[in-house]
Amino acid sequence: MKVSALAVPNSLDGSSYDRLTILFHWSTAVLVLFQFSSAHVWEQFQKGTNIRVELISLHVASGIALTIIVISRILWRSVYGRKLPPSTSGAQHVAATLVHHLLYALLAVQIALGILLGWSVGIPMNFFGLFSIPSPIAFSADTRHLLADLHGVTAWSIIALVGVHAAAALLHHYVLRDSILSRMLPFLLNEAD
Ligand code: HEM
Ligand code: HEM
Repeated sequence: MKVSALAVPNSLDGSSYDRLTILFHWSTAVLVLFQFSSAHVWEQFQKGTNIRVELISLHVASGIALTIIVISRILWRSVYGRKLPPSTSGAQHVAATLVHHLLYALLAVQIALGILLGWSVGIPMNFFGLFSIPSPIAFSADTRHLLADLHGVTAWSIIALVGVHAAAALLHHYVLRDSILSRMLPFLLNEAD
């Protein structure tokens, strides 16, 4: 498929983001929620049980997928991605921009911490059997615990901020009845047609 085909907006009047931006946004959202919930599910099982080991390796593989998606998303946004005019103005615009930049920054920090944590565990990080990333350095147990704590705190920060972000999007759609959510979810736009 040609790049231009991915860059086209979904809606005929061009009032939504392009297909790839939308795909990146929603796959990031699904993966972040999976990362968060998988960790809280495996914590319910004893160390060494099959289900816990399987969930951790799925978390690592999906974490690598998330890393690829976030890097691609930022590259796409800075090169081809469709730039829409700001959806809000004044203080609301400043707040939305701040939340979006903070989300990108927290995702980058969480990915770096996740990779370091994976290395500190000492087992090669496997991507669905396709390739594996070995640990280049050894970490002390104290460093591993610190990385795990930071990764846990960053996870909660992302979830709290995503809560605010999603609530704002829903408020705009259902209360203020503007087109902010449908720019990222074009089937809502088609419903209104
Ligand atoms: C883990 C979940 C999520 C993450 C990490 C995330 C992240 C982001 C980021 C970074 C942007 C800025 C896009 C850019 O300008 O480059 C964005 C935009 C947007 N997000 Fe999310 N998002 C998540 C979940 C959601 C949910 C659940 C909703 C709706 C209920 C939503 C609705 C939107 C909308 C409508 C925009 C576009 C805002 C605009 O055009 O000004 N997001 N999201
Ligand atoms: C937004 C994305 C992510 C979220 C919300 C998340 C969440 C979590 C949480 C809550 C834990 C448990 C921490 C603790 O022990 O207190 C964890 C552990 C872990 N995460 Fe993530 N994570 C994310 C991304 C990643 C990425 C990108 C990687 C690596 C590619 C990764 C690798 C790991 C590893 C190796 C562990 C430790 C597993 C073990 O106990 O052996 N995570 N993650």
